[in-house]
Amino acid sequence: MRTQVAIIGGGPSGLMLGRLLEQAGVDAVIIERKSPDYVLGRIRAGVLEQGTIDLLDAAGVGARMHEEGLIHTGVDLAFDGEMLNINFDKLIGKHVMVYGQTEVTRDLMAARQRTGSKTIYEADDVAIHDFDGARPRVTFTKDGVSHMLECDVIAGCDGYHGVCRASVPENAVTTFERVYPFGWLGVLVEQPPVAEELIYAHHARGFALCSMRSNTRSRYYVQVPGDEDVKNWSDERFWDELRARLNPAIAEALKTGPSIEKSVAPLRSFVAEPLRFGSLFLAGDAAHIVPPTGAKGLNLAMSDVKALAEALIERFLEGSAAGVDSYSPTVLQRIWKAERFSWWMTSLLHTFPETGNFGRRIQRAEFDYLGGSVAAQQSLAENYVGLP
Ligand code: FAD
Ligand code: DHB
Repeated sequence: MRTQVAIIGGGPSGLMLGRLLEQAGVDAVIIERKSPDYVLGRIRAGVLEQGTIDLLDAAGVGARMHEEGLIHTGVDLAFDGEMLNINFDKLIGKHVMVYGQTEVTRDLMAARQRTGSKTIYEADDVAIHDFDGARPRVTFTKDGVSHMLECDVIAGCDGYHGVCRASVPENAVTTFERVYPFGWLGVLVEQPPVAEELIYAHHARGFALCSMRSNTRSRYYVQVPGDEDVKNWSDERFWDELRARLNPAIAEALKTGPSIEKSVAPLRSFVAEPLRFGSLFLAGDAAHIVPPTGAKGLNLAMSDVKALAEALIERFLEGSAAGVDSYSPTVLQRIWKAERFSWWMTSLLHTFPETGNFGRRIQRAEFDYLGGSVAAQQSLAENYVGLP
C-alpha cells in the first residue's frame, strides 16, 4: 500500500485532515486502532468556535450543524451562586455553537464514507518508521495479518496516548506539563437544559458546569479528585452534589433523570515542542492538551489541522516547503494562547485545596474584577469565542 499522507488516528483531527486533503486531491489513508462505534461513543467537547464552524462549512460537512446546533451568544459564570452573564454578542458581536464532538465526528465519518476514502479501523500494533529518513512508512496488523503503508508524510492525529509522539527520540522533543489534582465527572441526561446559557460555577465544594447537547439533552460536570472512580457515583449522588454547587433557584429548576453516560476526565495542561520531526507532524491532542474549562480542546485541534492541511496541500500541489517549514512555530503561537486562557479559566473556577483561604479570596477578587471591568469581560469573550 502507498499513499501521500498516512494519518494515524481517526478522531476529529484525523478525520478533518483527511477531509481537507481529499477536497484538494491529496491522497490520504486513516489508520485508527478502535472501531467507528467506539470512537463515536466517547462523549467529549460540546462548544464550537466560529473558526471551527467556518472550517466545517468549508469542508462541506456543516449542514446538520446549522440545522441542529444551538447558537449561544454568551455564557454565565457563577461564584458561590452569584451570577455574572458574559454576553459575547454585546461585548464583541460574536457567538459560539453548541454541537457535540460526537456529531462533528459522525458528520466527518459520513462524508468519508460517501467519497469512499480509505479508513482502516481496528488496526493493532500501529508503528511508524523512518520519518527522519527517506522511506517513511507505517506498519500495523489487522485481523491478525501484517500490513505496511508507505507514504511521504505521517500525520500524528492519535491523541495524547498515541504512538506518534511516543516514537520521537526523547532528546528531540521538549514537553511542558501541569497535571491538576482533580478531574471532571460528567453525566449526559435526556432532559432539557437547566438554563438557556452554559453555567460555569465556582463553589467552595468544587467547580460545576451546566452544559447541553440540544433542547432535550443536557451535559453536566462536577469537579472530583483526580483519582476518583466513577463507580462511587450513583446518579442520585451526582445530582445532589451538582445541586449543592449551584445557585438555589437554578438547583430548584434542574431536571434530572437516569444518566445515559457517566465518566471521569482527568485535567491536564500539556504542550510538546516542536510539532514537526522530518516527515512526521503532530496535531490535536497528540501535540497538546488543555484542561476543558475554556472549551478549547476540539477547537484547537481543528485549527491545527487546518494549518497542516494548507501546508501539505502547498507541498504536494505547488511543490513549496514554506508551509510545512512554518507549521510548528505558527501553530504553537496559537496553542500557547489557548493554554494560557484554559489555565486561567481553570484557576478561577476550581477549588485548589493547597492554596487555602488566601487562594479562595484571590479567586473572589478576580471574579469581582471581571464583574466590574468591561475590558476584562471583552478579553474573556474574545478568548472563549475564538482566538485570532
Ligand atoms: P482524539 O479525539 O483523542 O482522537 C485520537 C484518535 O487516535 C482516537 O480515535 C484514538 O483511538 C486513535 N489512536 C490512539 N492511538 C492510536 C494508535 N496507536 N494507532 C491508531 N490510532 C490511535 N474538550 C473540550 O473542549 N471539552 C470537553 O469537555 C472535553 N472533554 C474531554 C474528555 C476526555 C476524556 C478527553 C480525553 C478529552 C476531552 N476534551 C474535551 C478534549 C477534546 O475532546 C479533544 O481535544 C479532541 O478529542 C481532540 O481530537 P483529536 O482527534 O486530536 O484526538
Ligand atoms: C462542554 C465541555 C466543556 O469543556 C466546556 O468548557 C463547555 C461545554 C460540554 O461537554 O458540553
